[in-house]
Amino acid sequence: YLRRGALAAARSPRLLSSTRLAPSYNTTYSAGMKIVAVLYKGGSAATEEPRLLGTIENQLGIRSWLEEQGHEFIVTDDKEGPDSVFQKNIADAEVLITTPFHPAYVTKDIIDKAKNLKICITAGVGSDHVDLNAAVERKIQVLEVSGSNVVSVAEHVIMSILLLVRNFVPAHEMIERGDWQVSEVARNAFDLEGKVVGTIGAGRIGYRVLQRLVPFNTKELIYYDYAALPEDAAKAVGARRVEDLKDFVSQCDVVTVNCPLHEGTRGLVNAELLKSFKKGAWLVNTARGAICDKDAVAAALKSGQLSGYAGDVWNVQPAPVDHVWRTMKNPLGGGNGMVPHYSGTTLDAQARYAAGTKSILENYLKSQEQEPQNIIIGLEGYATKAYGQRK
Ligand code: NAI
Repeated sequence: YLRRGALAAARSPRLLSSTRLAPSYNTTYSAGMKIVAVLYKGGSAATEEPRLLGTIENQLGIRSWLEEQGHEFIVTDDKEGPDSVFQKNIADAEVLITTPFHPAYVTKDIIDKAKNLKICITAGVGSDHVDLNAAVERKIQVLEVSGSNVVSVAEHVIMSILLLVRNFVPAHEMIERGDWQVSEVARNAFDLEGKVVGTIGAGRIGYRVLQRLVPFNTKELIYYDYAALPEDAAKAVGARRVEDLKDFVSQCDVVTVNCPLHEGTRGLVNAELLKSFKKGAWLVNTARGAICDKDAVAAALKSGQLSGYAGDVWNVQPAPVDHVWRTMKNPLGGGNGMVPHYSGTTLDAQARYAAGTKSILENYLKSQEQEPQNIIIGLEGYATKAYGQRK
């Protein structure tokens, strides 16, 4: 079940500028372009583990493939400020590869500076770090490797729900400390069975989360999404749609956030909405940090309005050392399931998104049609309905 409907198949600029939009695509690669990739630093882990493909060391496994074709391939993790390798090289780059795990923020200013930029490829899923409206204006295509890590994230969501509901982290910390006080951790441990679980966003990840929750015998599975699930898909997991967000959260024991970050979801879970949550609900966000208001979440956890918050995404990445989400706790000293942004970058996921990035790049270099489901912004604008409701 894959629901992101691509409205238009983007064609490469070269193909469009040719006189014939013939299906007989070029079989030769165009040569000599500058390709910039901003990836995360892998350090010794990346030299010891070559399957860490999303790192600056292992370079998505495409350096020699690109260089054999005569392209210049700049790979860096240095992404902040005008003197960063990223910003210095963006001026004449034609292709930019970024990853959500160590996002190079492609703001309107950067796009203005990037006079030669034609295509941004997200090695992974989630392209909110690119100013998509500015990309539309400049006719810069934005593609991502749709579906590449959706199972990886869905599994992480299930793990996070369980570790919060069952109060796992404080129990494990107690063991490492050398203590053994069952009542101290059992006093805030529950079963998932019999609870109401709801997802904000029921796309590829949200739906997979619902599928994986079915065997837990929850009281009910519900979802909030402006796009309704097809009837048979909703029926297959027994999910009921709730159309009003406050009404939705007020029914949930567990809320999981699985929608993209865009104008309509930035700060969606804020102090006002948190008041409508059931007291003591658990909140899991593996979508994007900025969908949840940082300080409002910390305050809700501290007061006990939330019993727990878990996820791997942060409003700024890397998260500053003093980010409140690193250490926030509920009144009983637990409820924090935060980790660095890695749910979608398991080794299995890296193999898939590296291969997908190469395939998007190959299509671009050979002026071939892209897979429609990978196109976020095509030459004619938004090609997906997932990044907000627009005409
Ligand atoms: P998708 O495009 O298949 O599904 C997104 C769903 O969200 C769509 O059904 C859409 O209608 C819905 N949606 C959009 N705006 C909404 C709103 N205002 N309220 C309710 N629903 C709304 O995307 P997919 O593959 O499920 O990924 C979702 C997001 O998860 C990505 O955009 C990304 O931000 C995040 N993600 C995080 C990863 C991680 O490593 N933590 C890895 C992969 C994705």
